[in-house]
Amino acid sequence: MPPLVVSDVFCLQSHVSRHEALSSLSKAGPAVSLEDERTLPYRAIVENSLDAVALIRQDSTTSFASASVTRVLGYRLEEFVGRSIFEFIHPDDLERSRKLFADALDSPGKPIVAEVRCRHRDGSWRLIEVVGVNRFDDPEVRALVANYRDVTHRKIAEEELKESREQLRNLSRHINAAREEERTRISREIHDELGQKLTVLKMSVSRLRQALPREPEALRSSASAILESIDGLLRTVRDLSTELRPVVLDHLGLVEAIKWQARQFESRTGIACGIRSRLDGVAVDPNRSTDLFRVVQEALTNVVRHARATRVQIQLLREAGDLLLEVSDNGQGIQQEDGSRQASLGLLGIRERIQALGGTVEISSTSGSGTRLRVRIPLVAKETGHEEDPDRR
Ligand SMILES: Nc1ncnc2c1ncn2[C@@H]1O[C@H](COP(=O)(O)OP(=O)(O)O)[C@@H](O)[C@H]1O
Ligand SMILES: [Mg+2]
Repeated sequence: MPPLVVSDVFCLQSHVSRHEALSSLSKAGPAVSLEDERTLPYRAIVENSLDAVALIRQDSTTSFASASVTRVLGYRLEEFVGRSIFEFIHPDDLERSRKLFADALDSPGKPIVAEVRCRHRDGSWRLIEVVGVNRFDDPEVRALVANYRDVTHRKIAEEELKESREQLRNLSRHINAAREEERTRISREIHDELGQKLTVLKMSVSRLRQALPREPEALRSSASAILESIDGLLRTVRDLSTELRPVVLDHLGLVEAIKWQARQFESRTGIACGIRSRLDGVAVDPNRSTDLFRVVQEALTNVVRHARATRVQIQLLREAGDLLLEVSDNGQGIQQEDGSRQASLGLLGIRERIQALGGTVEISSTSGSGTRLRVRIPLVAKETGHEEDPDRR
């Protein structure tokens, strides 16, 4: 056992005889000097001490307090010892404290942990964390032993941390929404403005080619080459605009957009992608659709990047008022020792999106037998009936 450092001097008002006090002192060694009859070390109590210690009688008065009461609550020992602990407790915490005290009296030996506001000598309220143990049965103690400390600053720090997390979450939500809006706008602009101008240009060149004389041949083939380039540009414009925001998501909804994405994925990567949807008939609002669609995109990107899979399965189901989205692959699973985890924002982004919808994300992965991403969000959407129609691709 490590040597005990008795840093506190205790004030003892009664209940331990001078003889007991002196024998306690001799056990504790010379670290504490006996200034008067009421001062002595009390090893049994300090052993589990957090910051400060008090002994409390059945009638709630303090028989004994460590000197650190002054550091924690500002009182001199003689201002604290002998008074009921309830005199120091905030009125709003009184009822709960009395109940806890009664519970402690009923359960010897059982530590009871609580946080209560106590009045500091300077008039302020401090949040005190206390661990009380009924030791009335212990002939060496015969009291309720309370170890306590000031956790006000910790609590404030916790609150601030919580608040700043909430702010970050709001910020991320805001950024996602703004990005989505921007993508939609740019996508539309590219599609409508560029696309239309190119189409007009194509028609003009086409007319020009028709109006060209048969000779020289070179002129007509130049016109044809220009037309081909314009067709190429039109394809690029369409792909670019779809990449930014698939029109199908806005026009045909989530399931069709995911099917479209799956086909794109298959043709681009050669990895088979199956879809099973039992959502038909459930209207998913545009915001949720966008989020779920982006989740699928990120999950599929991860499959290409990390999984070494040959097959992906996407499932959309409805389960007890929730919408369930599952993306599973038959790849190698998440590698534990992957050092890049901290910088990976994809899964974090998925969590943020889904949490913002009040949902949950589960990722399960077994080495060698694939990864499964499971997303569940509450479905507060209007129904149009027949939602149980299975739809397989
Ligand atoms: N389908 C998957 N198969 C295997 N590993 C995966 C899969 N999805 C994610 N991972 C692992 O989880 C990590 C975190 O993914 P993510 O947050 O999307 O970051 P990033 O893709 O940028 O690395 C990846 O680096 C990868 O190691
Ligand atoms: Mg990723």
